[in-house]
Amino acid sequence: MQYIWGWLIILASVAGNAEFWVILVNRTHSFPIPHPLLRRFRTCHDLAIPGWVLLLLIWTELSSNSLLRGGRLQDQPEFLSWLIVMTGFWSGPLVWQVLVWQFVRYRQFYAADSRRVYDVGGEPGLDSTMVCGQPRRLASLWPWNEYCHLEVNTKSLVVRSGRQRPSRGSRTLRILHLSDLHFIGTPGLDYYRFLVQKAMEEPVDVILFTGDLIDDPSLLGVAREILRPLTAHAPCFFILGNHDWRYDLDQIRQGLISDGWCCVTGRSEIVVVAGRRILLAGTEFPWVTDTPPNVVNSGCDLTILLSHSPDQLRMARVLGYDLMLAGHTHGGQVVLPVIGPVYSPSLFGVSHAAGLFTGGPVALHVSRGLGGKDPLRWHCTPELTRLCVSVQNT
Ligand SMILES: [Fe+2]
Repeated sequence: MQYIWGWLIILASVAGNAEFWVILVNRTHSFPIPHPLLRRFRTCHDLAIPGWVLLLLIWTELSSNSLLRGGRLQDQPEFLSWLIVMTGFWSGPLVWQVLVWQFVRYRQFYAADSRRVYDVGGEPGLDSTMVCGQPRRLASLWPWNEYCHLEVNTKSLVVRSGRQRPSRGSRTLRILHLSDLHFIGTPGLDYYRFLVQKAMEEPVDVILFTGDLIDDPSLLGVAREILRPLTAHAPCFFILGNHDWRYDLDQIRQGLISDGWCCVTGRSEIVVVAGRRILLAGTEFPWVTDTPPNVVNSGCDLTILLSHSPDQLRMARVLGYDLMLAGHTHGGQVVLPVIGPVYSPSLFGVSHAAGLFTGGPVALHVSRGLGGKDPLRWHCTPELTRLCVSVQNT
């Protein structure tokens, strides 16, 4: 019996230590911290997780009283028992996260009325690998990698406004939500041409992009060229993201604006769709310290905030928005069986890694995004989302 307890305590300690470092990495990556410092956090995480396992194994080898050999916690050296208790404490949030994922988040994460998944690398006439340069080796190491798949899905939501507004129009608003394109060369440019072609297959009222356009500034020109046809398909609005922030923001912004995109960072625009006045605003906070306008008395039928990070949900509520669209978290990119997503650079951690959240005062859609600097995705297919929004004025 003592053996079983010892193994359970060690298991809780190892899992809790990993959870602590993952939480730290997720939270630090939600702030505008310089890249070298973030890399140091990741290095600590990379060393601390296997390092703790190694230390416990070495101690087991050295001591006949170790927990894995049937010893009791009080038999361990004081510093070791203290560390085991402290790390074991963090297994609690992990258990909670697993329960929330199983019973609530899984449904929100994969919510869609319909979906069609394309293996873009396998499409006729397209490059079968869709990768180039250094990342190719990394991408090919992982089996069942979905980084060059594309899910085109439709999600319906009802947005209820608590404010009195004139009831205008009845048709559902059709929004195409794009996020996190991350032009870097992986997947190849054919992937992006394919997704633009799919984006234009059905009519939409507006196209909204929630940031992270490029990871390789030399690809800005070709990225603009690939996205340009979208501006002829529907009015296009955008904000930029934290990866764009590492390069020349003005150059990227002006490039898109000259192609016909409308930037709504820190400001708002009104579009009229099917007789409805829709207000669109944006924020790149905390990477750009802009403040979107307060829209409590806007008189519009629907107010939408584009935010690169889902962390600005509270800001959206305070300023009176009905709907917020975000990206940034990429759905965690890797979704593990039972546990769910692990890495999500957000103050919410993994709880808002992706999906449709309609329970609160502000409806939220977090896109899994379409690209990523690291060419690895499991159970987290890149998504192109058509949002069908019904507005209920009260
Ligand atoms: Fe991103």
